[in-house]
Amino acid sequence: MTPPDLYDTPENLVEHTAPSTAPQPWRNTRVVGKRMPRVDAYERVSGTAVYPSDVILPGMLYGAILRCPHAHARVRSVDASRVEALPGVRAVLTPDSPEVTGITWPYSQEVSTALFDPSCRHEGEAVAAVAAEDPYRAREALAAFVVDYEVLPHLVDETQALGSDAPALSPQGNQVGEPSTYSRGDVGRGFAEADVVVELAFDTPCEIHTPLELHGCVARWDGDRLTLWESTQGVYRVQLGVAEALGLPLARVRVIGHYVGSGFGSKLQAGKYTLVAALLARKAARPVRLFLSREETYLCVGNRPPTHTRLKAGATREGKLTALELDCLGTGGAYPAGGTSLVDWLVRDLYACPNVSTKSTDVLINAGPARPMRAPGHPQGAWALEQVIDALAEALGMDPVALRLANVPEVSQARGGIPYSTTGLRRCLEEGSRAFGWEDARRKASSSGRKRRGVGVAACLWIAGAGGPPSTVVIKLFADGSVNLNLGASDIGTGTKTVMAMVVAEELGVDPAGVQIEHADTGTTQFATPSGGSKTVPTESPAVRDAALAVKAQLLELAAEELETPVDRLRLEDGQVMASGAPERRAAISELKELRRRGVLVGVGYRGPNPEGRAIHPFGAQFCEVEVDTATGEVEVVRFVAAHDSGRVMNRLTFESQVIGGIAMGLGLALTEERILDRRTGKMVNRSWQDYKLPTALDVPADIETVAVDVPDDAANSTGAKGLGEPVTIPTAAAVANAVYHATGVRPRAAPMYPGRLVDWLSRPSEEDMG
Ligand code: MOS
Repeated sequence: MTPPDLYDTPENLVEHTAPSTAPQPWRNTRVVGKRMPRVDAYERVSGTAVYPSDVILPGMLYGAILRCPHAHARVRSVDASRVEALPGVRAVLTPDSPEVTGITWPYSQEVSTALFDPSCRHEGEAVAAVAAEDPYRAREALAAFVVDYEVLPHLVDETQALGSDAPALSPQGNQVGEPSTYSRGDVGRGFAEADVVVELAFDTPCEIHTPLELHGCVARWDGDRLTLWESTQGVYRVQLGVAEALGLPLARVRVIGHYVGSGFGSKLQAGKYTLVAALLARKAARPVRLFLSREETYLCVGNRPPTHTRLKAGATREGKLTALELDCLGTGGAYPAGGTSLVDWLVRDLYACPNVSTKSTDVLINAGPARPMRAPGHPQGAWALEQVIDALAEALGMDPVALRLANVPEVSQARGGIPYSTTGLRRCLEEGSRAFGWEDARRKASSSGRKRRGVGVAACLWIAGAGGPPSTVVIKLFADGSVNLNLGASDIGTGTKTVMAMVVAEELGVDPAGVQIEHADTGTTQFATPSGGSKTVPTESPAVRDAALAVKAQLLELAAEELETPVDRLRLEDGQVMASGAPERRAAISELKELRRRGVLVGVGYRGPNPEGRAIHPFGAQFCEVEVDTATGEVEVVRFVAAHDSGRVMNRLTFESQVIGGIAMGLGLALTEERILDRRTGKMVNRSWQDYKLPTALDVPADIETVAVDVPDDAANSTGAKGLGEPVTIPTAAAVANAVYHATGVRPRAAPMYPGRLVDWLSRPSEEDMG
């Protein structure tokens, strides 16, 4: 279920509130853009922050979900009589329970199933649930259910899905609708005009989000009002999903998500587990805590879909692209879940190319459904495109950076030729390669001996990252000069709260660390869309600025009277109102009599619309150096330089931590992460932190340098910020692959490049055997 609005194009965004009058762009900032540690750093590192999974309520029960152990099966019957008789069991839900009758779960716009659907299309489908006095009894109770399964033939290899002997997973067959296609120009003519043509095939694995905090919630009913403490990227999205599924008015569903132990897209909306927790709590008339096990999260709550891509590219002798042609097969698992969604976006828009054609075919397999995962589709697309550009550069005898620079587009070709609001692609390539010492490092690389060094580059843009309405923010200034900021957005670990406090401080002249923040609670905050799509800062920061300006206007007006100075000569600094050119005319905010009489000033701010006719996107380019041990196949990533244009850098410190996080995640795709499904049983075999290899501190180079192409995008919005969180992971894996090629002469067609695979490739002379 891809939430469409996160990736909507700017021209599709509809304003739902009156646009505010756009303030002047900031010029010299006092707070914004500086390095500021997180305002909630102490709570987070000391363990005092209460995450949803820390919530303990009086009388709370523990929920657990019985899951189908088969890759494909039909539930004939569920017998819960032994479960109900167990000591400590307080509520049981089966497909036959009246409490679940009529409750459906929407996998996509097209496909809904029953909450406990008899048709189990992947291992881990929910079959029944229980709530008990403690988590151990809840888990043990699962073993007491007696389920009669009719086991059906399964399919877990997407490359076999369209074969004539593949079992059919839906009445319409295994293909999800018609392939999606895009074309401009004439690729046939484009290839005819090319002096050099390269065609390569690539595979990327299925990756699992694996956030530190598990997926789940605590549910409590007070009469007919439901409160959920949910680990989520968007409290309002969860509220909507639960209210719709349970037939409740929105006002009776309160969702609180003050902290979230990260979310990369799999926590953008309510889970099936949210509904199950709410129903168990209602049945038991007790609060219920239902957090999944790590194993369950590997099976059921989403993934980055795998891809199999053939990409052909043509260029003239001078290095101008003439044609790009992509053919991609992917799978979103057992339900239509966007298996190939956005995989072709970079091919369409990253480089100037008159003739482009793409075709993406999405198929069904018996595996957990995909969900958006940090820059959906883009790292997969970059893995193919950025390696093909690298191969093209070699075929042309050009430097890979120079070839990219020769094809930097001035307009968004995929959006009909409208100009970018700002584009830093050229600067990212130029400044990044300078910081990396690209030419020197390329010369110094060694491609002989056991350990070989190489360098690689890859670039990116991100389809979203503009942000946009709606958002409503409230700021309160109290009589003593202290400030409360109220916004609905979640801080998913990116530093949202800190950046917003900096915006408040910038406008009101207060200490950002002192700004108190109410957020991510549908009971106490205003509306916000989920934190995803790298849009939280560009969406919320202009609304916060708008609210701060609304407070400032009122404050200066009453100060003008007391200081007998016109408003336009007053400014706010260090908690004081000061008159320019008249140092004696000043007053602490707390001394203003009218403010003390009123008690509080309230400013309401909105996110205004985006400009029409502009494509707003973040850009980036990453450079890396690797050392490949050709005897063991190990790739050591020695260093990275990441140059990113995300508009105005709001906080140089959190900018850096986002880039480092994106690179860490991209290294997982490059080197270690892969869902492995056993073909015989259809089961995932590496469903644990032990066997699903996430990069750890030992795998991430200490030497990561960030280059901020810090150009405020004043056309985009009133803070000039564009998205950052997702672009930073898009080019990483491709940059590593290009470096591995540079070191070894072996073109890594398949990610991840784990040691066994690399040794295999190194032992084969022909490129055609790889992948
Ligand atoms: Mo992101 S995939 O929009 O959380």
